[in-house]
Amino acid sequence: MTIFRWSRRGLLGFGLAAGSASILPRHPRAATPALPLTPVCAEADDLTPAQTEGPYFTPNSPERGNLIVDGIDGARIRLAGFALDPHCRPIASALIDLWHADAAGAYDNQGYRLRGHQFTDAEGRYVFETIVPGLYPGRTRHFHVKVQAPGGGVLTTQLYFPGEPGNQRDRIFDKSLLMDVRDDNGAQLGRFDFVVARG
Ligand SMILES: [Fe+2]
Repeated sequence: MTIFRWSRRGLLGFGLAAGSASILPRHPRAATPALPLTPVCAEADDLTPAQTEGPYFTPNSPERGNLIVDGIDGARIRLAGFALDPHCRPIASALIDLWHADAAGAYDNQGYRLRGHQFTDAEGRYVFETIVPGLYPGRTRHFHVKVQAPGGGVLTTQLYFPGEPGNQRDRIFDKSLLMDVRDDNGAQLGRFDFVVARG
């Protein structure tokens, strides 16, 4: 679920703050104050719903936040947010594993193109630099994600793009898994906060 709304100020601040962690890239134009240390949201929010893993998960992905490697082409998107517990407290060191199709709608089932995992920083944040997944028959546009708080269970779910024509025809689509996607001078910024139980 999306916990609070984007603001340009907050967005750039997120990049600035994220840049202090070694695995997280610095936003090139970060120059504004950081986000609040904890997101503003209600107590006892619903857990992020689980969805099917699908047929293309590969375990043991590399630990990396930047999936733009080895000639990956496509529209760039920064996917970022928090891992939170049901009381809206950030979860540090939560595993976030991302995998998705390339711009042509194909998964790499031999290697690890467009696959990677990272752990949230001390304030519960994650950031991936990747591309917008292409479409493939039978599905709307989506990311696949696994999230696990330290010692907790694994949440397997998917994230969706607002305004995507295929959303209404997709039998798996869940509007509570829509990212908040903004355009920032041609670069897309997708925000989603995962709510999971602590271990
Ligand atoms: Fe998929």
